[in-house]
Amino acid sequence: MPIPEMEKIWMDGELVPWAEAKIHVLTHALHYGSGVFEGIRCYKTPKGPGVFRLEEHLKRLARSAKLYYMPVPYTLDQLYDATFAVIEANGLDACYIRPLIFRGYGEMGLFPLKAPVQSVIAVWPWAAYLGEEGIRHGIRAKVSSIQSLDHTALARAAKATGHYLNSILAKVEVTNSGYDEAIMLTEHGHVAEGSGENIFVVRKGTLMTPPPSDGILEGITRDAVMQMAAAMGIPCQERTLARSDLVIADELFYTGTAAEIVPIREVDDHEIGEPGPITRRIQDRFRAIIEGRDKEFGYFMEYARS
Ligand SMILES: Cc1ncc(COP(=O)(O)O)c(C=O)c1O
Repeated sequence: MPIPEMEKIWMDGELVPWAEAKIHVLTHALHYGSGVFEGIRCYKTPKGPGVFRLEEHLKRLARSAKLYYMPVPYTLDQLYDATFAVIEANGLDACYIRPLIFRGYGEMGLFPLKAPVQSVIAVWPWAAYLGEEGIRHGIRAKVSSIQSLDHTALARAAKATGHYLNSILAKVEVTNSGYDEAIMLTEHGHVAEGSGENIFVVRKGTLMTPPPSDGILEGITRDAVMQMAAAMGIPCQERTLARSDLVIADELFYTGTAAEIVPIREVDDHEIGEPGPITRRIQDRFRAIIEGRDKEFGYFMEYARS
């Protein structure tokens, strides 16, 4: 998806003009994927731009950096304020937010600890990743032949740039076959997640989602949905799921920052159908939260500090 050009990017502590936020071609992260990042969304609310669970995202960014031995050059408070500064500098009230911390220029080779660490936060308007039509009527998903990431090969709890080569393979594979999004399985054939989303199954009124031990990224939207379900009296379990659980599901949906809550209307050419009642209830509640209308989960929305 093309990135619209904005005014400013926050880079290493300063707001710099968009076109000047550049790096050297010998940047470590470009060669070895040694970067960690976040995808966050800011929404227009009556109280001004509200960022969905910013602190949780920044904490995950810090955990990802730790897992790859990267000292974060800024405190979480500094990154919080920098996020709102760059939103304001670009005059946006709703946008996607992309913080990235990466090993910069100066060292080559696989021992990264002497390479400098650089930080950026970019923002731009980004519509629903899997389309508004997808949010309303559901999308077509396909189980990919590409396995989800194995805990023994990578620090799976990290959201790291290098991890996404796997997702790229899965996404291209299913897109080229005419589907909208992939579902990846573990080496044991358990359902893991989408290329950039977590997945939920609804069966007999109960929500089920794969556990972290099944090679998922612990999504912040996933966690929000589990909290919302508890508040709404919808039973929800973290449970290992088989491929066949997808086909016999009453409802299926993806969750993620870029995608939001996206029903799956077809999996592997099996009809699941139009979004069902539980999916709709979760979607409606999520919308109320991000529009700043929900009292109980009002704390999910975070605002600029004066
Ligand atoms: C592989 C993967 N799984 C799940 C998610 C969903 O996580 P979140 O809800 O925190 O955006 C993402 C997106 O960040 C992702 O890239």
